[in-house]
Amino acid sequence: MAETGVDLANPRQGRLKTDDIPVALRQLPSTKGQQMQFPWLAMVAGFGSIALVGMAWVVMPSQFKEMIITHLNSTAIQSAQSPQPSTISSMPPVRLLGHYKYKEAPLDSLVPIVADGSIKLRQAAAVRFQEMMAAALDSNVVLEPLSGFRSRADQQYLFFHVKAERGQTPSERAGVSAPPGYSEHHTGYAIDIGDGNVPATNLSPDFENTAAFKWLTENAAHYSYELSFPKNNPQGVSYEPWHWRFVGDSDSLETFYTARSPQ
Ligand code: DAL
Ligand code: ZN
Repeated sequence: MAETGVDLANPRQGRLKTDDIPVALRQLPSTKGQQMQFPWLAMVAGFGSIALVGMAWVVMPSQFKEMIITHLNSTAIQSAQSPQPSTISSMPPVRLLGHYKYKEAPLDSLVPIVADGSIKLRQAAAVRFQEMMAAALDSNVVLEPLSGFRSRADQQYLFFHVKAERGQTPSERAGVSAPPGYSEHHTGYAIDIGDGNVPATNLSPDFENTAAFKWLTENAAHYSYELSFPKNNPQGVSYEPWHWRFVGDSDSLETFYTARSPQ
């Protein structure tokens, strides 16, 4: 067998070739001796440079000194003012087909807003909704709750079952219904509202022509409710004049606003 290896560790042991030594044990020629043979030379060069810069500064005309100082100051201010990158800001909010991800409200945080208990909202949202309903009624406007909290399972049916029934693509379906895990209704802060005097407009864009919608537009903010999906909303969700959300406490505000804006 031809020997192709190169002597490594000990040239006097002529028969020990590279190929005879396990790769992991091979000792490469040392570079120790080449590292900093003249450390005093580097020190002299360093001190010399500092001395030269110092002398140059002393003899430099004052207008040049001012220019240098101004430049150094503006660089320091710029770097202090520029936003520091953070790991949070680089994380985009989690979205699917235009909808944001939401956690389901804990069941014990929900209270009924209709007599048969079939429609529920979080406590704070429920209290304000009932006050809003009573105020509207004083003006002969009937705000009819149609849907409040929905579980992921509810939304699974609304998204996939109805999508298959109607032969819709995921994007088409997402224009009108959020995929499970991505509905504002999971939070317990969102509610679909109808006009009790015009039920034919329930969950229809025609709801915008009702007295209930007009009243909501003028008054809902006093009860900390806002329209989630106005016309041409940035999420690309269809206009839903009936879908309102509560943003009247820290939890609801954070739920909706940290879901959509990078920190
Ligand atoms: N209709 C709204 C987008 C939802 O399903 O949550
Ligand atoms: Zn809704």
